[in-house]
Amino acid sequence: MSLAIRRATEADTDALFRVCLLTADAGKSAAALHDFPELPGLTYVVPYLTRKETWAFVLEEVDTKEVVGYVVGTYDTRAYEEDVIRNWFPVHAIRYLYNSPYDRPDIKPGDKWYLGRYRDPTVYRSFDANVEFSPAHLHINILEKHQGKGWGRRLIEKAVETVKDRGLDGLWVGIDPRNDDARKFYKRIGFKEIEGAPDVNQLGLNTLVNACTTPELQSENRMLWCGYQPPHISRLGPVTTIRDRSVMSPDDRVIWGPEARVL
Ligand SMILES: CC(C)(COP(=O)(O)OP(=O)(O)OC[C@H]1O[C@@H](n2cnc3c(N)ncnc32)[C@H](O)[C@@H]1OP(=O)(O)O)[C@@H](O)C(=O)NCCC(=O)NCCS
Repeated sequence: MSLAIRRATEADTDALFRVCLLTADAGKSAAALHDFPELPGLTYVVPYLTRKETWAFVLEEVDTKEVVGYVVGTYDTRAYEEDVIRNWFPVHAIRYLYNSPYDRPDIKPGDKWYLGRYRDPTVYRSFDANVEFSPAHLHINILEKHQGKGWGRRLIEKAVETVKDRGLDGLWVGIDPRNDDARKFYKRIGFKEIEGAPDVNQLGLNTLVNACTTPELQSENRMLWCGYQPPHISRLGPVTTIRDRSVMSPDDRVIWGPEARVL
């Protein structure tokens, strides 16, 4: 079964609701937590199909066309936030008022949490430290059966290429504090805690310093070559360790460990 990454469209909306629901409880299925199963996706994925300064890609099974993952994000977190705070969440808050699930005594806490936030969407504003690190942020999720096969790394690579095409040198993600697997994944591919952020769940990737290096290799005091020519120096991929610098072209970007920097 082969998979491919392609740009997402509005026709993917239902599929994105599904993937988000099945991964929304700190990486596990949140299906049991919701009578309104679209709420996680309506909050964290689907706005990135159409709102300001956004981009979105899906991971799809080639034969069946089943969407099994995604990476979505924005080039400009503040512009995106103002757009959704004014034009997205209030509209959906009104939609859900029609049958008033929020006020029903039997509403599930998971649904109430989302709908409560729609009433005051300013809670979606990001931390200043994150935005100072980079204006770009992302969300990524892959269904369980396709996890652990390198697709997360490839989707992040796609995100990196996308923001670099806009001249941005970083992007960040906020993680659920319970989601240790996601934290390990991000750290493995080069994300680090954002300096000045209020907690350890704000992770940033400096795409200039590059994410190709694994933590083990970063800690070794030897030269690493990321294996890609400009302008794609931020591409993630296998690290090649080169001891003989003469095989490199002058334009290759080099990272020296342990204090990684771009030469
Ligand atoms: C987190 C997620 C996107 C990672 O994608 P993935 O396809 O499973 O990860 P990959 O196979 O691309 O892994 C990339 C690297 O991270 C490492 N890694 C991934 N998960 C890891 C874990 N739990 N612990 C340690 N390392 C891990 C892999 O070993 C791999 O390292 P290597 O290339 O050096 O061998 C995916 O598992 C997922 O969607 N999980 C559920 C939803 C979720 O938690 N989303 C994130 C919300 S913030």
